[in-house]
Amino acid sequence: MKFSIITLFPNLINSYISESIIKRAIEKNKIEIEVLDLRNFTNYSHNQVDDYQFGGGKGMVLMVEPVVNAIESCKTKNSKVILTSPQGKTWKQNLAREFAKNEEHIIIICGHYEGFDERILDYVDLEVSIGDYVLTGGELASLIFVDSITRLIDGVIAKESHQNDSFENDLLDHPVYTKPIDFRGKKVPEVLTSGHHANIDKFRQEGRLKNTYNKRPDLLKIDNLSVSDLDYLEVLKNTKGE
Ligand code: ADE
Repeated sequence: MKFSIITLFPNLINSYISESIIKRAIEKNKIEIEVLDLRNFTNYSHNQVDDYQFGGGKGMVLMVEPVVNAIESCKTKNSKVILTSPQGKTWKQNLAREFAKNEEHIIIICGHYEGFDERILDYVDLEVSIGDYVLTGGELASLIFVDSITRLIDGVIAKESHQNDSFENDLLDHPVYTKPIDFRGKKVPEVLTSGHHANIDKFRQEGRLKNTYNKRPDLLKIDNLSVSDLDYLEVLKNTKGE
């Protein structure tokens, strides 16, 4: 999978991708990340990439020409062009999954300042937002796309690590514990150290249901649940999630 990130702040992107799992994924040739500095694609003097909006109004608007030049410098017939924007479709785990599975080359344009010239949208396949709040620029959003897609690519992290992720099967993940077994009287649930795998599986599934019921009840889809899941949900309802 190749990502081409078009940005006014290449250093922000480079510093994130030179650490941790993304760095390892690049070293293992699971992904390639190309960072394109938008200022290298303008024909205006002083590397100008933004200007005042017609009709008046505050703030600088990203110009169409440098953005389209940058897209055209790296686009192939297999590229998908994404624009980061608070007006876009909200990024969710299922979109990350689809992109990890289906795409070969993702071009991400980091929006900036007050916005972008509307004509840029004609060169974009999908406008994507990371949530209902406004950032100063699209760099954080673009890194979120890269990160959430990359960890789903085969061989980047252990498959078991993301098979039970929060949002897989529309449930949040179960609670997890590590050493020490007793911290100031707060003990790790005994079942987890019992070695009894069936009981551990049951405990974890109930943990997923309980977390989802208490923290994100909007995610619970009755149709996806087994009979024993539904029985446990009844218990949760009767005990108010305790
Ligand atoms: N740029 C500004 N706000 C944004 C958001 N919420 N998501 C993606 N890009 C953005």
